[in-house]
Amino acid sequence: MDSIVLSTMDAKCTVQRHGAHITSYQRNGDERLFLSQKAVMDGTKPIRGGIPICWPWFGQLHPDIAKHGIAHGLVRNQLWRVTARVTSDTFDSVTLQPYDTSHSLWPNGLTCQLKITLSDHLAVELITQNVGNTVSEFTGALHTYFAVDDITKVHLTGFGAPHQYLNQLDGQHYPTPTDAYIFYCETDRVHMSALSETTIHSNFGGNSEKQTQIAHAGHDSLVVWNPWIDKAANMSDLDNAEYQKFVCIETAVTQGVTLQPNDTHILKQMIY
Ligand code: BG6
Repeated sequence: MDSIVLSTMDAKCTVQRHGAHITSYQRNGDERLFLSQKAVMDGTKPIRGGIPICWPWFGQLHPDIAKHGIAHGLVRNQLWRVTARVTSDTFDSVTLQPYDTSHSLWPNGLTCQLKITLSDHLAVELITQNVGNTVSEFTGALHTYFAVDDITKVHLTGFGAPHQYLNQLDGQHYPTPTDAYIFYCETDRVHMSALSETTIHSNFGGNSEKQTQIAHAGHDSLVVWNPWIDKAANMSDLDNAEYQKFVCIETAVTQGVTLQPNDTHILKQMIY
């Protein structure tokens, strides 16, 4: 697959032109992202792992989803071209844009670009611009698969501010989780709040506890997902046991952004 490598003194990031998909982010040799051993890397389907880009809709959030069945939008499964590359002593950055905007479901007048900047952290910016002359709407997500050693030893923090979450497994809304945020079954939650900083504690409480800090901007929700045993067993591009090796924390717009002509929106995730 055609890829671009960004690097700094102590970090490296690999971006596939298929989907503008980041498949690896290493700092001091430590891989932060999960990539499935069974990920399909020939451009015939979206890559399982890394950072898929969901745009111009998240999940099933399109009124015609029943007719077309395309989950997570139009751009994670197409080729992007590089529109800018800037490097310096302290950072390395690339911007990409999808080639094909001709799909009948592409929103009127909207363009999207992905800017990836590697410095003392990794910043991923999904930039939506309304270059048309009518109001247009979209949803989307930076659907990051974070690598963990063992999902049963993961603890999330940063979800304490008052909010509701939608449990996508039963379609019900629940109040702010008050229990420790741990994983013991399939988890698919849309936290309806612009929570701005979250932390993944891997090997929680153990000698080898590791923390990954994530900052979010331009979002209205955070999605937390792990398929667990049964769902993973039914996914052709995920090995049965691999559900143990990741948690998705997705910086998302699920309630919709309405863009006026000439307006720009930036959905941003920063991984420290
Ligand atoms: C998450 C959704 O964002 O993505 C889940 O909340 C979904 O419902 C998951 O199963 C994976 O989606 P896909 O299309 O990549 O298999």
